[in-house]
Amino acid sequence: MLQNRNYNSLEEYKLAPFMIGTMRMGQWGIRMKESEIEEFIEGCIALGLIDFDHADIYGSYTTEADFGAVLRKRTDLRDQMRITTKCGIKLVSENRPEHRIKSYDLSKDHIKQSVESSLLALHTDYIDTLLLHRPDYLLNPHEIAESFTALKKEGKVKYFGVSNFSVSQFDLLQAIFPLCTHQVEISLLHREAFENGILDQCQKWGIRPTAWSPLGGGILFSPSLDNKIKEVQTIIAELGEKYNAQQDQVLLAWLRKHPAAIVPVLGSSQLSRIESAKDSLKIKLTHEEWYMLWQAAIGTEIA
Ligand SMILES: NC(=O)c1ccc[n+]([C@@H]2O[C@H](COP(=O)([O-])OP(=O)(O)OC[C@H]3O[C@@H](n4cnc5c(N)ncnc54)[C@H](OP(=O)(O)O)[C@@H]3O)[C@@H](O)[C@H]2O)c1
Repeated sequence: MLQNRNYNSLEEYKLAPFMIGTMRMGQWGIRMKESEIEEFIEGCIALGLIDFDHADIYGSYTTEADFGAVLRKRTDLRDQMRITTKCGIKLVSENRPEHRIKSYDLSKDHIKQSVESSLLALHTDYIDTLLLHRPDYLLNPHEIAESFTALKKEGKVKYFGVSNFSVSQFDLLQAIFPLCTHQVEISLLHREAFENGILDQCQKWGIRPTAWSPLGGGILFSPSLDNKIKEVQTIIAELGEKYNAQQDQVLLAWLRKHPAAIVPVLGSSQLSRIESAKDSLKIKLTHEEWYMLWQAAIGTEIA
């Protein structure tokens, strides 16, 4: 493993074994009340899962503020958690009337503006990790590095990473500014990162990747007419029986088997499911079982 030259060691950038996603807790999902968010945050912290994953756009620019309302009231909670948020996507929204179309923007001005509004919405004076949500086709790595350097110096952001970048886009930025993580879609249903070099790159730099939609957004939990999904469900049931585990636990154990030490970003806002996810840490799939799930997902024997 190469030493990421920006940090003394991999240990310096810490993540719990799971992150807690916030995308579905507000207007884009189940619209939790303030008291429910508070209870949920407390429950996650009690489980030792202290990394919360946000983005400025969640809930059409409202979910950070829903979460922040709890932090305003419960000032004791901020220091017990780590907050990741993202910037760079501009959505058409009544909350951003100046956006005429959907676009990506990783200019210095947009990054700064976005961080300032996330800090206000979240009722905090620092963000632990800022991710660039998607690559802007017009991104200038020098401008981004300049803006990261300024935010770090001002104490507004501690660490920086990217999301949904290609291997070459990651390289471009990593060459001039140390990145601490890469968040990409990884699940049994979305296996591109195993083959496109992203997981290799993370291992090369000792960077822990985080996986969004680690359970495929929940698709595998409903009956399906698709033969591959049916076969995946059959294998999951078989392994579930062997390990006395639920479906989500088998899927998470499958992700964890990879040596890149993938950190799933859990999408559920039900505490019982977060607990069940944490319990999956005890399951250790064999090499062959990992491939049984892979084979079922691709629908054929490997080459
Ligand atoms: N960087 C990016 O571009 C990006 C993109 C998308 C998402 N994200 C992040 O990733 C997080 C997770 O994404 P996701 O929500 O798609 O993740 P996910 O965990 O794959 O899917 C969550 C969905 O699955 C359902 N589910 C979970 N366990 C279940 C079970 N045992 N049985 C039945 N249904 C179950 C949940 O329902 P319940 O709520 O009812 O449990 C929820 O609807 C987001 O919150 C966000 O923070 C990042």
